[in-house]
Amino acid sequence: MIDGKTKICGIMGNPLGHSLSPQMHNAAFSKLGLNFAYLPFQVEKENLEKAVEGIKAFQIRGINVTVPHKVRIMKFLDEVDEIGLKIGAVNTIVNEKGALKGFNTDARGFKKALEKEDVKLEGKKIMVLGAGGAGRAIAFQCALEKSKVTIVNRTLEKAEKLQSDVKSKLGKEIEVLALSNEDRVKEKLKEADVMINATSVGMKEEKSIIPREFLRSELVIMDVVYNPVETKLLTEAKKAKCKKIINGVEMLVQQGALSFEIWTGKKAPVDLMREIIMRELKGK
Ligand code: ATR
Repeated sequence: MIDGKTKICGIMGNPLGHSLSPQMHNAAFSKLGLNFAYLPFQVEKENLEKAVEGIKAFQIRGINVTVPHKVRIMKFLDEVDEIGLKIGAVNTIVNEKGALKGFNTDARGFKKALEKEDVKLEGKKIMVLGAGGAGRAIAFQCALEKSKVTIVNRTLEKAEKLQSDVKSKLGKEIEVLALSNEDRVKEKLKEADVMINATSVGMKEEKSIIPREFLRSELVIMDVVYNPVETKLLTEAKKAKCKKIINGVEMLVQQGALSFEIWTGKKAPVDLMREIIMRELKGK
């Protein structure tokens, strides 16, 4: 029940109609009996600064930030965590008595999703397909964990920008390849331990980012696309008997769980959060 003491959290982005975060967080708050509520806040690009002032003015406790504000919002915050600063994007804000602190829980959410399947990143050869927001967070986390990273992207320049950012922020070398360079991509995959699709290919479509014959049973395959839960890439990975298959729901849930813990100081009910997301996705 919302009353005069309810602490407000929410998500800021545009569009928000597809977001599953309100259902996930409200279910988690009520499971733990916390007097919190989570709302969608649709914010146009030109209103971002005013919206951030609103977080302070309304004494909102926590905010998730999504497309298109993850990068630009940083300059309006009082503090940003180390990984957020390095990646250059935040997806979570906590309001501590009027001081706004930003975090990037995508990166750690990615790591947790793999850990749940007992996949360690250290020393592994990892191919990340995509150099957008998700690809950047994943590449930085992998580089931090001392993995050997290859970024593959449709637009090579974007991968090269990520490569130079990782070099300047972490002092680490990563390789880049154009997605169109299929021979090299196939070669690289022969020696890779993990392959992650961090592009939007496969979202609400029967399409895979790479040809099925590139997949091998020694590979761990992860998709950040969560709708459908089993993307074409993951179906093909099953057929290729890939070692482990991790869907996009896990990263969504884990990044949400980390945000929840930052706002409430309580351990997130991860199993319930996953259940809610799966239920919502099945209902669609
Ligand atoms: P997100 O925040 O989800 O990562 P984004 O920043 O828009 O979203 O990035 C989308 C990623 O998917 C990019 O790597 C993009 O490739 P480009 O940098 O070349 O645009 C990739 N992507 C989107 N549609 C694609 C397609 N049809 N084929 C290959 N890559 C695609």
